Amino acid sequence: GFSWTLPDHPKLPKGKPVAVVVLDGWGEANADQYNCIHVAQTPVMDSLKNGAPERWRLVKAHGTAVGLPSDDDMGNSEVGHNALGAGRIFAQGAKLVDQALASGKIYEGDGFNYIKESFENGTLHLIGLLSDGGVHSRLDQLQLLLKGASERGAKRIRVHILTDGRDVLDGSSVGFVETLENDLSQLREKGIDAQIASGGGRMYVTMDRYENDWDVVKRGWDAQVLGEAPHKFKSALEAVKTLRAEPNANDQYLPPFVIVDDSGKAVGPVLDGDAVVTINFRADRMVMLAKALEYADFDKFDRVRVPKIRYAGMLQYDGELKLPSRYLVSPPEIERTSGEYLVKNGICTFACSETVKFGHVTFFWNGNRSGYFDETKEEYVEIPSDSGITFNVAPKMKALEIAEKARDALLSGKFDQVRVNLPNGDMVGHTGDIEATVVACKAADEAVKIILDAVEQVGGIYVVTADHGNAEDMVKRNKAGKPALDKSGGIQILTSHTLQPVPVAIGGPGLHPGVKFRNDIQTPGLANVAATVMNLHGFEAPADYETTLIEVADN
Ligand code: 3PG
Ligand code: CO
Repeated sequence: GFSWTLPDHPKLPKGKPVAVVVLDGWGEANADQYNCIHVAQTPVMDSLKNGAPERWRLVKAHGTAVGLPSDDDMGNSEVGHNALGAGRIFAQGAKLVDQALASGKIYEGDGFNYIKESFENGTLHLIGLLSDGGVHSRLDQLQLLLKGASERGAKRIRVHILTDGRDVLDGSSVGFVETLENDLSQLREKGIDAQIASGGGRMYVTMDRYENDWDVVKRGWDAQVLGEAPHKFKSALEAVKTLRAEPNANDQYLPPFVIVDDSGKAVGPVLDGDAVVTINFRADRMVMLAKALEYADFDKFDRVRVPKIRYAGMLQYDGELKLPSRYLVSPPEIERTSGEYLVKNGICTFACSETVKFGHVTFFWNGNRSGYFDETKEEYVEIPSDSGITFNVAPKMKALEIAEKARDALLSGKFDQVRVNLPNGDMVGHTGDIEATVVACKAADEAVKIILDAVEQVGGIYVVTADHGNAEDMVKRNKAGKPALDKSGGIQILTSHTLQPVPVAIGGPGLHPGVKFRNDIQTPGLANVAATVMNLHGFEAPADYETTLIEVADN
């Protein structure tokens, strides 16, 4: 029968503390002026790269290697940390939704049948990120859902859009709104009362994460549910164009707006008897809204009016909280993660990041599960992030504080694994501010040094890796790999992640001298790291895990 007990590794000892460092948004790319990791002074990461060749390598962090629909999909933190922690490749939300839409199964499930009850007398509201980024949501999935729901009885539909500019180019919101408006007008021709009802930029409206700033969710609630916002427009296209024309405006941070009719009344507040679907498949930035929509007891902000609705998520966002309770597509079942195995085999773990990435090294790492497996063996520490700022104004973020916590955890002798996420390359990279991203990369490198020094002191082992690329390429490229120029001849800053591979470096005084990377694995990816880490703790990985990256020479 099944057993949680991991076999002993035949050659590697137990009891060496292992530091697992994930540099968020730290890929490997050609050296040029748009590669902030190259431009920045990163002596520690450089020394790992230029050290023993059998202890540094690249792995895939995007596309099918991390369970995304295709190899054109850039990596992201959810799928990256899922793969790192779970050691296997699961078909991820994006792909599961694609399949459910293609087969039509999405319309046969409990979730759709539940919201459908409201179609006769109520409005169907769709709330989510409007882009083709494929990280949190995808426009084509929204289009299919609009079509499918209207064919199955939805007569009044309101879409509440969140503009992107973070997983896609800044400024692309206008085109996405045009596409959506066009679809909605075709629905109207068929007699369906379909409109965009509200909107706002994803980073300022609704899509906060890990409870960093509830005001973000409140702004969305006011616009989407109450129909109230500081800006009122007759159409979403006018809204987005007008708000983008303000100085320093960008898609990520557009202020909230509502669409009003000729009498100035909001066209789509959420009312008793309505149905609501949050169309994002990715959890982290939807879970806060899901709580506001679903929980009877809720004290994070004053909801003012709590409509009696039928609510479903595109996916269930939190498997532990079972939130939301209704959903259109079942999430990947990411069970038996390395964290759960290790804790059940006596490994004590410390995990830490700052708020904006805290859930990455805990919730995502553990297969989209909140909380501890065993609180007597685990300690998760969250360092509060700066809130209400864009991280280019404070690009060092909390890297130093995270590193110091990791150092102290290592020196305490209480933990077998000390795991951190260093957010700088990613969070500052997403701002598109190249100078700040250079500062960010240097800060992350300095944090790595603190952790590696502590590993040295305790005779431990380190595994330094990343979840996907971002800071190593800050410009949109043409097919030849040269910066793609826009109509006015300027470069286009890339705020999004990339398709680049990421490094894995291992070392430390506790590492068995015979350990080296194998060279017999075809295109390994992030999912190969979990078995590797289990080996370094002295265990063999479960048989169905992606194979380990290391082998141990006899000497
Ligand atoms: C975000 O949510 O900030 C971006 O869409 C993706 O970034 P992450 O995958 O690095 O969190
Ligand atoms: Co990112």
